[in-house]
Amino acid sequence: MSASSGRHYLAIPGPSVMPDEVLRAMHRPGPNIYAKEQGDLMAGLLADLKTVARTTRQAAMYIANGHGTWEAALANVLAAGDHVLVLATGRFAHGWAHMARQLGIATEVLDFGLRSAVDLQRVNEALAADKSHRYKAVLAVHVDTATSVLNDIRGLRAVIDAAGHPALLMVDCIASFGCDAFETDALGVDVMVAACQKGLMTPPGLGFVFFSERAAAVRAKMERVSSYWDWNKRSSPDEFYEYFCGTPPTHHLYGLRAALTMILDEGIEAVWQRHLLLSRGIHAAVEAWGANGPMELNIADPQCRSSAVTAIRIGAPLGTELREWLVEHAGVTLGIGLGMAEPNDPEWHGFFRIGHMGHINRQMTMGVLGSIDNGLKSLGIAHGGGALEAASVVLSEGHQSA
Ligand SMILES: Cc1ncc(COP(=O)(O)O)c(C=O)c1O
Repeated sequence: MSASSGRHYLAIPGPSVMPDEVLRAMHRPGPNIYAKEQGDLMAGLLADLKTVARTTRQAAMYIANGHGTWEAALANVLAAGDHVLVLATGRFAHGWAHMARQLGIATEVLDFGLRSAVDLQRVNEALAADKSHRYKAVLAVHVDTATSVLNDIRGLRAVIDAAGHPALLMVDCIASFGCDAFETDALGVDVMVAACQKGLMTPPGLGFVFFSERAAAVRAKMERVSSYWDWNKRSSPDEFYEYFCGTPPTHHLYGLRAALTMILDEGIEAVWQRHLLLSRGIHAAVEAWGANGPMELNIADPQCRSSAVTAIRIGAPLGTELREWLVEHAGVTLGIGLGMAEPNDPEWHGFFRIGHMGHINRQMTMGVLGSIDNGLKSLGIAHGGGALEAASVVLSEGHQSA
């Protein structure tokens, strides 16, 4: 018997579950894009995005996925021949580095592997060795969605400052935005990129770039910037058309409006706390399963685990078998392993990820954990007991202290 009828739960790390409020907001006829309301809508969205990003500086919006925001960020402050240092803790930093290379930017990658955060000592050494200050920017990913590592951006800022290095600090918050606590201005981040399809609960298609005065000054000195990626007009338009360098993504904007209202009604700090609590419950469950069997959290250090996504090692082919069982028998889709290839598992069958970003609560979290527990038992995969109890204790303790 399948027992998978009922509402399906897409527990992948983005695109995330869309709230009914977001779906309803998009279900309407197209607007006149020249009407004043559209300009008012954009002004409100940019202001609220800045509140979520904890910045009072500038923001530009793009019809783009996360890759688009990577290119937007690079295109405004870097030209072919410039040098950057990329700190890699998984697939996504490598992806950003690849894009920089394709633009002719000299890209040096410090690779910290797939199971640990950026080692600040190594960054310190790399910056100290760059005596002529060739690096124009340091690129880092706050949460790498493939490995689920959470990087210490405050520590990174401190290392750059201590080295007296003038490089811009550019951070990918695509996975963490609206999930893991992040304060763009207080952390001294010069360029931050994010997208709408994860913590912001909106269908994929909108990307955001936030930038500091320092980054704006670097932009001002650029010989040329592609007019489509240029953030100047988008962040300070003279007319509505310039927000998107053309026709706006009308219905995405309605969806985003509803999502931001939900986030701000809850309060961004409460949103971060909710994600932290639920993720700690998931980690407790995986640790209990792993006490007797092949399951293991990809990130051992609790300080370096994201609140948005959890990558789990289980060994090939069990990752794929478990995921397929959950779709077929429980109505739950988990994330695939991504960028975790190993010599004996090039197809990533030994991994899965739980996305816990955006529109999630206790019952969804306990439901996904209970479904995984069913799958482990049905498939006869060895696992420790008490995982649901362990998660429940964490969630209950969180409730008492909340
Ligand atoms: C951390 C991170 N950076 C960049 C990307 C790329 O975003 P997109 O797939 O929307 O282009 C993703 C996508 O999952 C991501 O998680």
